[in-house]
Amino acid sequence: MKSKIEEYLKEIENYTSDKLSDIEQFRIKFLGKKGIVTALFEDFRSLEKEQKKAMGKPLNELKNRASQKIEELKATISGERRVNFEKDLTLPANFDFQGSRHPVSLVINRIISIFEKIGFDVSEGPEIEDDWHNFTSLNFPEEHPARDMQDTFFVQKDPDWALRTHTSSVQIRVMENQEPPIRTISPGRVFRNEAISARSHCIFHQVEGLYIDKGVSFADLKETLLYFARELFGKDIKIRLRPSYFPFTEPSAEMDVYWGLNNERDYRMTKGTGWLEVLGCGMVDPQVLENCGIDPNVYSGFAFGPGVERTALHRFQMSDIRLLFENDKRMLKQFSSAL
Ligand code: PHE
Repeated sequence: MKSKIEEYLKEIENYTSDKLSDIEQFRIKFLGKKGIVTALFEDFRSLEKEQKKAMGKPLNELKNRASQKIEELKATISGERRVNFEKDLTLPANFDFQGSRHPVSLVINRIISIFEKIGFDVSEGPEIEDDWHNFTSLNFPEEHPARDMQDTFFVQKDPDWALRTHTSSVQIRVMENQEPPIRTISPGRVFRNEAISARSHCIFHQVEGLYIDKGVSFADLKETLLYFARELFGKDIKIRLRPSYFPFTEPSAEMDVYWGLNNERDYRMTKGTGWLEVLGCGMVDPQVLENCGIDPNVYSGFAFGPGVERTALHRFQMSDIRLLFENDKRMLKQFSSAL
């Protein structure tokens, strides 16, 4: 075996070619499934222990030299070819990767287009908010835990400035500056001082919706949410509303959609119930309307706030929210044809 290896090494040393097809033949001859190196490794297996010790190193060297040679030859060719390519204007165009929308943007755009169809406009506001817009106007009592350092990233104390914890703050700005009827959705980034895990992140996005007019009722809220769920998850989706609590809505609810146990790839998704929590919602508390200069005796309204990342994880069957923030190109590339 030793002399064979030496012969092959010489052959590799002396080989040269500038044709890709020849180099490929050379690769198949040495490294292919039925190639010389593979066959030698087969023989090697049946050797005595002592011989194995002696032959292991040369055999590996043979394999490495063959791959090195192939790489070297290919490298010289591709250098030259590139020059020729540039001169040859008849060659097909180079389809470079053009980039794609981030899955979070895809979901935000989808939600915007669903609500645009029923007359909602889009409003935006600052990511750094004062205490009034993020908390006080929304009826958060002084001692509410959400104001606590644990949940909120404070930028400055007294007067308080913080990274907004929800985009309800944008809705306050809209109500302060616009006369009803108001139909608006507020997409945006929000921040909470939470531990990062597969399920939650300290940065995420919401698209909060607000509708204020004369005679708006809970039935309107329910019908709007049903429309939204059907558009987003398909026309057969079932929803349910569970009583809940938010300081700025009364009554308040959380909406679940029936995801089904068959779709449960990960037990944590619906915790074995089949129901998936999608958003918080409720009738805007009259006190909040009053805080914004809207007469609660004339007007009423509802608000709701789906989280974008959760929706993206379900829609694209992803299991870890962190994937949405790492921006690994291998992940992003997969969305070039989505939506
Ligand atoms: N702002 C709430 C949150 O961040 C969601 C919500 C919006 C609830 C609108 C009710 C009405 O969790």
